[in-house]
Amino acid sequence: MAIVAPDVGIDLGTANTQIYVKKKGIVINEPSLLVADREGRHTVRAIGEEARVMLGRTSADVTAVWPLSDGMIRDFEMTQAMLQFFMRKAIGVSRLVKPRAIMTIPCRVSPIERRAVRKAAAYAGIRENQLHLVEKPFASAVGCGLPVFEPVGSMVVDIGGGTTEAAVISLGGIVVSRSIRMGGVKMDEAIITYVKREFNMLIGERTAEDVKMALGSALPMKEERRVLVRGRDMITNLPQTAEISSTQVYEALSAPCEAILAAIQHVLERTPPELAGDVLKSGIHLTGGGAQLFALDQYIASELDMPVLLARDPMSCAAIGAGHLADQFELLHRIGKSSFLREEGEE
Ligand SMILES: Nc1ncnc2c1ncn2[C@@H]1O[C@H](COP(=O)(O)OP(=O)(O)OP(=O)(O)O)[C@@H](O)[C@H]1O
Ligand SMILES: [Mg+2]
Repeated sequence: MAIVAPDVGIDLGTANTQIYVKKKGIVINEPSLLVADREGRHTVRAIGEEARVMLGRTSADVTAVWPLSDGMIRDFEMTQAMLQFFMRKAIGVSRLVKPRAIMTIPCRVSPIERRAVRKAAAYAGIRENQLHLVEKPFASAVGCGLPVFEPVGSMVVDIGGGTTEAAVISLGGIVVSRSIRMGGVKMDEAIITYVKREFNMLIGERTAEDVKMALGSALPMKEERRVLVRGRDMITNLPQTAEISSTQVYEALSAPCEAILAAIQHVLERTPPELAGDVLKSGIHLTGGGAQLFALDQYIASELDMPVLLARDPMSCAAIGAGHLADQFELLHRIGKSSFLREEGEE
């Protein structure tokens, strides 16, 4: 066991947490989820993947906790416990010198929220003055190999579980950005609401996500498909099944897709002309799990009449980017290219 812990890149997401360890790559990729006792919630039963396996099969005395929502820490103690668990799993515990880390945060978070992230990271064993925060779209841009330090404009749209963050990046910094509380989780909620309204039926989050994965599309599908969904009748309270079609799922998802499009337009309208020209040439890069919604890239491309590219491995771009920045941290700092870091006290 080495004495000095390796540098890490951490993407603490609403839906998934990933940790990139220097020389190893992504070693943690687990849901940001815990299962805890309902009474005196301090007894944690399972974290991450193990908690997911338990989900839906939990007894009445335990409860599932997603400690982040809309990209932010909502349950501080649970986030702390979860991050500590993942860090131990990633690099072990018996290190004399604690690790340095680059960690992602949403654009435009408040100083209080930033402090919460720092505190949770310190609890998880990261050296306090060696934790650097970087905005998610910047990390994602690095993760998908865009020339973020060059004097050209690159555009990234990170569509996660809880947030969509669109940004134009140039010369090592974010030039224009827009962050909205829209993502995969809201898409699932839109399906739940639709099924409630059209079928008088209540379905669970997991079911809604399964429907989204099976039939979800940002454009109408050429061939209509259908799936059976199980839920509870809202009038009789009895278990019920209904058949939902791809057209119906498309309808349910149209508002979330429009909101994502509006965020991208907002950024483009505020992008200086030269950089906008670069983006027109190199295209809009989509990252994050939500970007994998079928035909979302085509929908955005046709609405804006611009090239749109879905990143390879979109769910890992932010963690890979944070990891690469951690790898090169000293070099970037030395050559004065660390202005992308969001430090304490900075607005
Ligand atoms: N093939 C797919 N089609 C549609 N949505 C998908 C697909 N695969 C994953 N998702 C959605 O992606 C979301 C998770 O993405 P990701 O892991 O990037 O989010 P996150 O980083 O945890 O969230 P955030 O960055 O907003 O805090 C989930 O809501 C999931 O349902
Ligand atoms: Mg994310």
